[in-house]
Amino acid sequence: MSDLKNKNIILGVCGGIAAYKSAELVRLLIKQGAQVQVVMTHSAGEFVTPLTFQALSGRVARDTLFDLDAEAGMGHIELVRWADLILIAPATANTIAKITHGIADNLLSTICMASKAPLLIAPAMNQQMWINAAMQDNIKMLLRRQTVTLCGPAAGEQACGDTGPGRMEEPAQLLKRCITLLKSNQQLSGNQSPGKRLKGKKILITAGPTIEDIDPVRYMSNRSSGKMGYAIVQAAIDEGAEVVLVSGPTVLTAPAQAEFFMVRSALEMHDKVFELIDSADIFIATAAVADYRPVKKVEQKIKKNNTTLILELIKNPDILADVAALANKPLCIGFAAETNDVKNYALDKLKRKNLDMIVANKVGESQSGGNTGFEGDNNELNLYWNNPADRTELRTKNLPYASKYQLAGQLIDEIVLLFT
Ligand SMILES: Cc1cc2nc3c(=O)[nH]c(=O)nc-3n(C[C@H](O)[C@H](O)[C@H](O)COP(=O)(O)O)c2cc1C
Repeated sequence: MSDLKNKNIILGVCGGIAAYKSAELVRLLIKQGAQVQVVMTHSAGEFVTPLTFQALSGRVARDTLFDLDAEAGMGHIELVRWADLILIAPATANTIAKITHGIADNLLSTICMASKAPLLIAPAMNQQMWINAAMQDNIKMLLRRQTVTLCGPAAGEQACGDTGPGRMEEPAQLLKRCITLLKSNQQLSGNQSPGKRLKGKKILITAGPTIEDIDPVRYMSNRSSGKMGYAIVQAAIDEGAEVVLVSGPTVLTAPAQAEFFMVRSALEMHDKVFELIDSADIFIATAAVADYRPVKKVEQKIKKNNTTLILELIKNPDILADVAALANKPLCIGFAAETNDVKNYALDKLKRKNLDMIVANKVGESQSGGNTGFEGDNNELNLYWNNPADRTELRTKNLPYASKYQLAGQLIDEIVLLFT
């Protein structure tokens, strides 16, 4: 009951409906031994009174930068030095934009600018605000910062009557994230941020489609854009990992920090992966590898002479299953993109291929109604894995509809927990 003993937490509260949940959050943090200093924006005061937070935290809730009394005592810089963690819950679209772009025009955004402490952000807003392009651009930019972690938003029914992503993550969940974040921070040597949790780890990632040639001008492929895989590459780099990307043809640019190999067919991808796998600690197979290829590639263009044409196909090797069957296999994470019966297919793959985790998504539509799967910028993921301590216990986690980069960060968070 004292996972946060001696930890100093600044809880930033912004002007959103979910501000009432922050009161419960203060209670939970304090119960775990933390000292909590609430910093409210002016808009937050429209939803909850400072007195509520003062009564729960035992400290005067701060809401003003230009406060003569406070600046003479625990001024904003002292507050910055005091904090082991800054948690903003709820984080409004407005405050997220300010922090992303370095606008220090109130106490909370100034503290964020001046602090080196890990910053955990729990967005809460209307679903249209959340999927708005400006919001998503800001989030992408913000998450590239090593000290910033996102928790949520969850999807579901909203106070305004809409349904979709934008609900603040529940206080109990936020409490867990604070504990893991501070623990992983403590485990790191020196002053490394939680953005270096994969330092020293080598991750091999496959992404994109494969192309199976039929003749010199025709081929078989699939709709994979590679966006999910490339987002995971970036998220892994952001956590300090050494990343090798083996990609089928895409229009995307590989992050400069990744070692990059472009391949075309499933056989080429298989060969390249096996050339590189020995040194990998983690293998993440996001590529949509063709299950079949033509038995032989016809040397000349096939002519339109017959009414029907039979193409004989042969099964491609299963790259992920082959890696997972190695005696000294790395941690193996697979992807299952399915149009139906997603959970059952995913669980079958997890077991049959002896994987450490399977990441499933429905191609078409998410639970919250957004488009998911190939080509788009957003997705919704369901993670399934066996408890490493007791392989019979199945664990699951839903990562609600969000940008692929954001989901990639959340997936990396789970992989870190699995790995450490
Ligand atoms: C009733 C009401 C509810 C609101 N709820 C939210 C919300 O949940 N999320 C959000 O980003 N903005 C919400 N807003 C808009 C913010 O209050 C507004 O953008 C404000 O400038 C945020 O200021 P802050 O970021 O300094 O707290 C709401 C506004 C009103 C009037």
